[in-house]
Amino acid sequence: MRELIIDSGLVKKFNPIHLKHHEFLPIAVENDKLITAHAPGAQQHHKFIRNVGQLATGYETSFYSIQPELLQHELKLIKQGIYHRMLISEKQNQVAPRGNILSVISNKGGVGKTTISIELAHQFARMGLKTLLFDLDLGNADVSNKLKIFPELTLYNFFNKEVELDELVVKTAFGFDFIPGECGEFKLANMTWAQKQRFFRHIQAISTKYDLILFDLGAGITRHVIDFALMADDSIIVTTPNDIISGYAAAKATYGRFVEINSKIESSDRELGEYVYSPWFILNQVQNMRQGKNLYHSLKRTIDNHINENSIFKIFPEYLGSVISDRDRLVDTYSKREIIGLKHPKSNLAIDYRQLAVNYLGSSLVEAPVQQQRGSGLQRFVKMLGLK
Ligand SMILES: Nc1ncnc2c1ncn2[C@@H]1O[C@H](COP(=O)(O)OP(=O)(O)OP(=O)(O)O)[C@@H](O)[C@H]1O
Ligand SMILES: [Mg+2]
Repeated sequence: MRELIIDSGLVKKFNPIHLKHHEFLPIAVENDKLITAHAPGAQQHHKFIRNVGQLATGYETSFYSIQPELLQHELKLIKQGIYHRMLISEKQNQVAPRGNILSVISNKGGVGKTTISIELAHQFARMGLKTLLFDLDLGNADVSNKLKIFPELTLYNFFNKEVELDELVVKTAFGFDFIPGECGEFKLANMTWAQKQRFFRHIQAISTKYDLILFDLGAGITRHVIDFALMADDSIIVTTPNDIISGYAAAKATYGRFVEINSKIESSDRELGEYVYSPWFILNQVQNMRQGKNLYHSLKRTIDNHINENSIFKIFPEYLGSVISDRDRLVDTYSKREIIGLKHPKSNLAIDYRQLAVNYLGSSLVEAPVQQQRGSGLQRFVKMLGLK
């Protein structure tokens, strides 16, 4: 199984009406071939697709089949500017989209990771995206604590091989699905190689059922937390005006592991995304948006001066947005088992959370070269575990 990200620049060369009517989706050009997904019933359209494909790209077309409802869903997402990664199985000549995986991390505790994960998951779900929130704060089950949802089965049972991952999925009243963590002694640090490998296989399978998956990780940047953060396609580092140094430390530590993994690849085989680590930054609990943006710029300058100047591997931090400080409203809302996006959709907090989601999705609108800088978390996982 390998992955290709849908090339937005390529899709734009085709007419959306053609894509819908002929039930096909151009994915990427690879080895001088136009890789496309098509619905099995659309065989009669092959000739047309070949001709149009040749005209638009100059290349012969390779056809992979995709379930018709998945194809229609992808075409809908493309209209919103969302371009997924596709899992390609040569053996079965099939493709399936897989959702983007996002990890939320911080060096310091209590900066707002879990609140942001919950509110972001809700905003994505509101936009019509199938969203899964994963409580990977093992030992603390922070999402459960906040939402007061304590399912009987948790990740602990999964790691104990008592259940499969999809048996843990709980539907919430907030629009997104949820996989609960565990309160107790279980820690990411205790995970064995075999457990990580099993987790990878399950994540890969479950990622084909969602558009977006969020990992809420516990505080601190231990090796294990970092590895989970890098399993995701994108990492979000949450920091506050009081913890800017910790934000920098989180980026530096994650980048260190990123370099370690990618240094193992022969430099001639390295792709653009394997040189550039692009974490997103959220400035939480700011007094105003300007303060957040200024702090992001000073972080970026520090990274440029201290890291990028001296290394062929770079960190390009990106600004996802800021969230205003409003502790009273948060504490009051969550104490009633409510969330901000639903209970106070017009509040400044809710507007800020929505803007984070919009900014994230908007980023996939950019053209192909920038898109390709975004590595694939699952492919990185394969390298981390030495699976191939
Ligand atoms: N924008 C905000 N303004 C004011 N207070 C906030 C804001 N966001 C979060 N908080 C408060 O900060 C505290 C910690 O938030 P949260 O539990 O989400 O952080 P966390 O990073 O997940 O913590 P932990 O490291 O323990 O997992 C909570 O009391 C929460 O209400
Ligand atoms: Mg938390």
